[in-house]
Amino acid sequence: MRIHAGSVTPSHCCESIALSAQSPLLLVDAARDAWRRRAIAVAPVLAGGLYPWLLQLAYAAVDRHETSDLSEKVARALVAGALMFAAPGAGLWLMSRLSRAGSMTLGELRLRSIATLVLAAPPLFTLIGVEAWLSGIARFENAIWLAIWLPLAAVALGTTAERVTPAPRRPQATSWRIAHGVGALLLLTGFIGLHLANHLGGLAGAETHLRVMHALRHWYRSTVVEPALLGLCLLQVVTGAVLARRWLARAVDAARALQAATGTYLGLYLVCHLNSVFVYARANGTDTDFWFASGGRAGLLGDAWDVRLVPHYALAVLFLFVHLGAGLRVVLLAHGRKTGWLMPAAWSVGAAVSLGAVLPLLRIHAS
Ligand code: HEM
Repeated sequence: MRIHAGSVTPSHCCESIALSAQSPLLLVDAARDAWRRRAIAVAPVLAGGLYPWLLQLAYAAVDRHETSDLSEKVARALVAGALMFAAPGAGLWLMSRLSRAGSMTLGELRLRSIATLVLAAPPLFTLIGVEAWLSGIARFENAIWLAIWLPLAAVALGTTAERVTPAPRRPQATSWRIAHGVGALLLLTGFIGLHLANHLGGLAGAETHLRVMHALRHWYRSTVVEPALLGLCLLQVVTGAVLARRWLARAVDAARALQAATGTYLGLYLVCHLNSVFVYARANGTDTDFWFASGGRAGLLGDAWDVRLVPHYALAVLFLFVHLGAGLRVVLLAHGRKTGWLMPAAWSVGAAVSLGAVLPLLRIHAS
């Protein structure tokens, strides 16, 4: 029998004393297990804390390395990609690993919320970067980041030895779910579908992207549509925050937790994205066209600040599909339909669209 520090209850304690009296090896085993659990909890939080420096390393891997050797280019791109996505990937891994329907410890619930923040490191760090720049304290952005993450790491370290608690019960929140679903449908059909098609059009070249965007602006920048669009974004952020908070406070399985965590990412992304488009760019009189999105002629990998926008955009598009897939799964399950195909399809289509939308921003396109 293995005794985990994360699931110690009074009855387990007595058992552990009895067992340890029988065999010192079991005590060593339990201690090693406790350390392993603690390391598993803290590693993703550390990755989150180190996110700005991981981005710097990613930039260093691709910066000013003019080489015609294709294999070296690919190797450098892979290293940069691994560094940029390490933190959100670790958050996703911990969040899924901790999720379990039935009952979770309070410590596990708290740790899963922290893992969700690690997953959402890209929009959080981008938002801090933009706000720090607007406030004239851009050079302190890494210090601000650390000030947020050090307490989180301390909480993660302190959460592994708490008692098992029953899953807190919450009402179904039907009206919030309906409002969130209707808002999503309107936003997807009225704007996001067109917006992503616009970014995929960038694969044909910057000129195509610009032409499509100028045509679409007649629709989404009109005096009626733009306020409605912003109102819908606000509705999604507020209703999504209420729902995500409810689900992340309960012992739910990995699929449900994934829905809440990707929703948290998208909510933070929307706040950050709209802040960049409407506050940062408009305050500077900058046109928010293809050159704004791609950081100018050099693309997002051509500037140390802009590198953060690669995971920020890539995961927004990927998680949009995963989030929609997770929502559809709940609906299909309620109607007794098979869903085994759904999440692999959502991940695959999301990854393909994400790649197609981000490659032009790295200036990898047809013309
Ligand atoms: C590759 C990913 C993305 C990039 C590069 C990108 C870039 C941009 C740019 C440049 C604009 C300004 C458009 C203009 O001036 O006409 C914009 C606006 C906007 N984006 Fe995105 N976006 C991306 C993904 C998303 C996603 C996934 C969402 C929603 C979840 C979203 C929501 C919005 C909204 C609501 C606006 C405001 C539209 C307006 O001007 O009224 N974007 N985006």
